[in-house]
Amino acid sequence: MTRKIIIDTDPGQDDAVAILLALASPELEVLGIATVAGNVPLELTSRNARIVCELAGRADMPVHAGCDRPMARDLVTAEHVHGKTGLDGAELPDPTMPLAEGHAVDFIVETLRREEAGTVTLCPLGPLTNIATALERAPDIAERIERIVLMGGAYFEVGNVTPAAEFNIYVDPEAARAVFASGAPITVLPLDATHKALTTRARNAAFRAAGRIGEIVAGWTGFFERFDKEKYGSEGAPLHDPLVIAWLLRPDLFTGREVNVEIEVDSPLTRGMTVADWWGVTDRPANALFVGDVDADGFFGLLTERLSRL
Ligand code: RIB
Ligand code: CA
Repeated sequence: MTRKIIIDTDPGQDDAVAILLALASPELEVLGIATVAGNVPLELTSRNARIVCELAGRADMPVHAGCDRPMARDLVTAEHVHGKTGLDGAELPDPTMPLAEGHAVDFIVETLRREEAGTVTLCPLGPLTNIATALERAPDIAERIERIVLMGGAYFEVGNVTPAAEFNIYVDPEAARAVFASGAPITVLPLDATHKALTTRARNAAFRAAGRIGEIVAGWTGFFERFDKEKYGSEGAPLHDPLVIAWLLRPDLFTGREVNVEIEVDSPLTRGMTVADWWGVTDRPANALFVGDVDADGFFGLLTERLSRL
């Protein structure tokens, strides 16, 4: 039976690879894509999401534009990582498919209310603004969500945009707090997992050998690797967001534990920190499966094979 998902995203090259992986996987039925401001402003994330859908031959995919700023803060973007367009690294034409009618938050609420309860998985790959706004506007949807499988946060890896916080959570910590308090089942793919899924020359070569789409993906990874190589001195860059989709397809490639996760929203120093009770030192109830490890070769093998199908 296929799994129905909504992808909520701020493309970004790694978001783009995650969308391609989902569209190449028959196990998943992508009901639509919701865009949010994050890596780059909303107009660009909405443009980029449509470029990716057209790359995959899916100009029929509903792409709904969502929130253009965090719930209670100014927007912070990451052009220094993803480039001015958010999809630097490959020369691609502007999209011809239009945006779908209706705000992404309304699309999320209406879809969850229409589909059978417990059958739709939400896959946020950027700041959680759309998801939290949907929960605020329609609290009834929380118990209708099959699971929220998100990329964000960190424990041992702590942070990438500040010493304490990962970008998606940092941009909209109030939204993240609301999502983790929603009661919906949650799986977190944090930096602890994504920093173990690094591109390498061999892995990029395998992308290029996977065909036209693989060539484009290698162009994207070649671009955004420069930032992480310089910062971490690593050979490649973490492919963060595709791990969300890979977890849906092959959860056996991952290990983690059910823990309590709270979000820091008050301290300017640690804003956006995911305070994960990894060692169970509090009596706070577990509210998320926090993934700590991934079989990186298994992940890249899955991703490369699926890209070759597009
Ligand atoms: O910290 C990594 C996350 O921030 C990824 O989702 C990347 O696309 C950016 O949104
Ligand atoms: Ca993202």
